[in-house]
Amino acid sequence: MRVIAIDGPAGSGKSTVGRRLAERLGLTYLDTGAMYRAVAFAAIRQGIDPEESERVAALARAIDIVVDDRGVKVDDIDATVEIRGPEVTCAVSVVAANSEVRSELRARQRAWAIERGGGVIEGRDIGTVVFPDALLKVYLTASAEVRASRRAKEMTDLDYDDVAADIARRDAADSGRSDSPLATAGDAVTVDTSVMGIDEAVDELVEMVRLRVADTEGA
Ligand code: DC
Repeated sequence: MRVIAIDGPAGSGKSTVGRRLAERLGLTYLDTGAMYRAVAFAAIRQGIDPEESERVAALARAIDIVVDDRGVKVDDIDATVEIRGPEVTCAVSVVAANSEVRSELRARQRAWAIERGGGVIEGRDIGTVVFPDALLKVYLTASAEVRASRRAKEMTDLDYDDVAADIARRDAADSGRSDSPLATAGDAVTVDTSVMGIDEAVDELVEMVRLRVADTEGA
């Protein structure tokens, strides 16, 4: 199985780099953050408080989540736009700190990769916990300013200060939670996209994957 794991904080360029890398390598791309967002979306829709951990965990086990390049579906309802909205973004850190939700989504992420023989998989705990044997682990980062201005540009109705505050809040929650917090795997390569830029980062990672493949196949 050929897994490329990409972890890093919000706005570090994971989605853009992940999608392009997958395209260049002929692999499928999975955004695991969208799966956590899908659970938060389902909870809000069913009027379940995200803090009600047991009910949210039961919900995570029960719902059907499809994340692909057409968008995100939760029990056949198109949630592509809503999972990026402020309500879900606000609730998702609590959902992502729920250990039973994490265990359910981890199992789904592993099954997804096994079905496809691997993929480019992006999240917070992919190289550290979900795929500790990934072919390549990448920790993508960028300065807080660069990350906030990227996110502010993506969402035209939000201003920079609000986005910067929200990113800081989510960084603290993602890095500070007890179950699989955002962290750099010891054997990950760190790429700072505020220094390198997205295109250059993708080129470099394609080359790294090629070298790893050649190494593991003894070419
Ligand atoms: O990447 P994102 O902003 O869409 O992620 C949404 C939330 O889910 C964010 O708070 C981090 C969390 N997450 C996680 O805990 N583990 C993952 N593998 C992916 C995302």
